[in-house]
Amino acid sequence: RRSTTMAVGTVLITGGTGYIGSFTTLALLDAGYDVVIVDSLYNSSKVAIDRIELLAGRRPDFYQVDITNEKALDEVFAKHPAIDSVIHFAALKAVGESSIIPLEYYRVNVGGSIALLQSMTRYNVTNIVFSSSATVYGDATRFPDMIPIPEHCPIGPTNTYGRTKSMIEDVITDYVNAQRTNLEKEGKPFQQWNGALLRYFNPCGAHPSGIMGEDPQGVPFNLLPLLGQVATGQREKLLVFGEDYPSRDGTAIRDYIHVVDLARGHLEALNYLRSKQPGVKAWNLGSGRGSTVFEIIKAFSNVVGRDLKYEVVARRPGDVLDLTANPKLANEELQWKTELTMEKACEDLWRWVSNNPQGYRQEPPAE
Ligand code: NAD
Ligand code: WQD
Repeated sequence: RRSTTMAVGTVLITGGTGYIGSFTTLALLDAGYDVVIVDSLYNSSKVAIDRIELLAGRRPDFYQVDITNEKALDEVFAKHPAIDSVIHFAALKAVGESSIIPLEYYRVNVGGSIALLQSMTRYNVTNIVFSSSATVYGDATRFPDMIPIPEHCPIGPTNTYGRTKSMIEDVITDYVNAQRTNLEKEGKPFQQWNGALLRYFNPCGAHPSGIMGEDPQGVPFNLLPLLGQVATGQREKLLVFGEDYPSRDGTAIRDYIHVVDLARGHLEALNYLRSKQPGVKAWNLGSGRGSTVFEIIKAFSNVVGRDLKYEVVARRPGDVLDLTANPKLANEELQWKTELTMEKACEDLWRWVSNNPQGYRQEPPAE
């Protein structure tokens, strides 16, 4: 079904069949935008599009395209001249893997972002919202007064994945600024470039309907999906990485943000770019509330209704004590704040994993 009324705008979403991308597509469709998705399906399934349609009542356009393929991107822009903005999710995101195959991470994440910016330039698409990560801050506890973390906290990623994110932030910042300056010099009609660098903290949860959620191909590595597998019996126990942190219960602190809130943050950032034309800016998307690993285990066990097995092991290399956001800037400038709690995310995640233990796949993945 196509929309019958005029769209608010048309947005290209890279990585739109992925976890955060699918929820953002839904938020944009609900807000009256038309959405065109490009995704290679490297870590996602086309079934996500059916679920989006079921919830939104209309379907985004979809192209199976690799973002490193500029020619294929060009074809999508050529086919959809109404696109005026891009939300860029497509990336490789496994922290551990990134140190094993760093060139692949730089090629896809950094190279793919450059290809996208070049293609956008050819089609005069000048707004980009980028998926950055709290991981760009590295260990903010090395500075006094930087927890909860504000955007002006110095960047210092501690792994390859994080370095691809901070590099892309630099690429976008330099390019947006250069485009604005060049146009001014050339005296051309002012087509402002704008960029939002959204630093997410720990996204989690699923759609309250229980029909849309995270469906990683392969073994998950984030805390809540792993706990979900313990609850469904697909995993024997959770390994807790360290209880010797100087926190209230010895386990590390993170700012868990419900994916529905996170998706709405993208909508607000997009609206801000399109109306305020601010140039390039970074915003934290987090709740401002930190939870320890034990608190998450407790909250999820409460929802499931029984204790979940865990075992404390050594710290995971590269992990830091505390990544809690100071979300004041996004609260004030984007008029956005989280509305859903970590407990609600646990509830929605449990509905999703208990209804869909194999995610979007009908059958377990082939060995
Ligand atoms: P995801 O893997 O579910 O989504 C990423 C999507 O990009 C997938 O659908 C994948 O198939 C696609 N993709 C990968 N390589 C591609 C390529 N070369 N061309 C086209 N498509 C490609 O991950 P997500 O959790 O939804 O993350 C989305 C974005 O947010 C990523 O950029 C990630 O780095 C960033 N991020 C995620 C988290 C998190 O914890 N989930 C936190 C901070 C930032
Ligand atoms: C959360 C907490 C672990 C698994 C990662 C990326 C970050 C961002 C979000 C993309 C930590 C503990 C975990 C387990 C555990 N992604 N844990 N046992 O490490 O905060 O962030 O995902 O941008 O860049 O680094 O998330 O879910 O892996 O861990 O005890 O089996 O749970 O030590 O304290 P993390 P996570």
